[in-house]
Amino acid sequence: MRAAALAGWRILSAGGAALDAVEAAVRVLEDDPGFNAGRGSVLNRDGMVELDASIMEGDRLQCGAVAAVPRVANPITLARRILDAGRHILLVGEGALAFARSAGIAECDPAALVTDRQRRRHAERAARRSTIGGTVGAVALDRSGTIAAATSTGGTAGKAPGRVGDSALIGCGTYAESSVGGVSCTGDGEAIIRVVLGHRTLAYLKDAGDPEYAAKVAVDLLVEEGRGQGGLILLDWRGRTGYAYSTPLMPVAIMSPALGEPRTPF
Ligand code: GLY
Repeated sequence: MRAAALAGWRILSAGGAALDAVEAAVRVLEDDPGFNAGRGSVLNRDGMVELDASIMEGDRLQCGAVAAVPRVANPITLARRILDAGRHILLVGEGALAFARSAGIAECDPAALVTDRQRRRHAERAARRSTIGGTVGAVALDRSGTIAAATSTGGTAGKAPGRVGDSALIGCGTYAESSVGGVSCTGDGEAIIRVVLGHRTLAYLKDAGDPEYAAKVAVDLLVEEGRGQGGLILLDWRGRTGYAYSTPLMPVAIMSPALGEPRTPF
């Protein structure tokens, strides 16, 4: 978590863009096999890794996303390239891979994304209902006042091939509007989609003006109306942070000029 926060911070403190900062932070987490994103992701019903990711810049509501993508180590960078290309927002599966090739993003060996831990979990889980864990995300505000948000995940363990969760969907797992804030969500993707959690969280933030309160109300919405569990990280246009979760654990790292080094509440 510290490494990810610092990767983003290095960019922001040098005057870089929030969009670059959230991409850099999420890449660090995708590369860490301890999280359910990139290498180390959970396996689907067929024992394969299929990745979802999305990224959004809150000035012009520019966004990019990928879903059910195999063979890409850093799907957040693929989502970023889709944002930069500006034509489409969401590409899936083989079409996303074709775009990756045209954008110069190398495919990796699918086996390189599968860790022994996830292979064991998959074998133990065999036919049991899927569980949730370890989606990664980042939100950032840069010196020019731009807010960006990014989310990346392997989805739910044992999911059906082709299943797409909230992390690929702008407004659900990821949303940013520089005049309001940015949010990245984790948890039960079907529940998050049901209540369009990212967009609703920013609506609460706009009304209440308090990111801690908005985060808590949004997680209540997820549990009560979405009928699922999860959490979110939230940042407002003034740089104030909020986070909340209904799951047993959701590690968070926060970095700001006042803090000097990443603060991890856990
Ligand atoms: N929140 C991650 C997923 O359900 O796919």
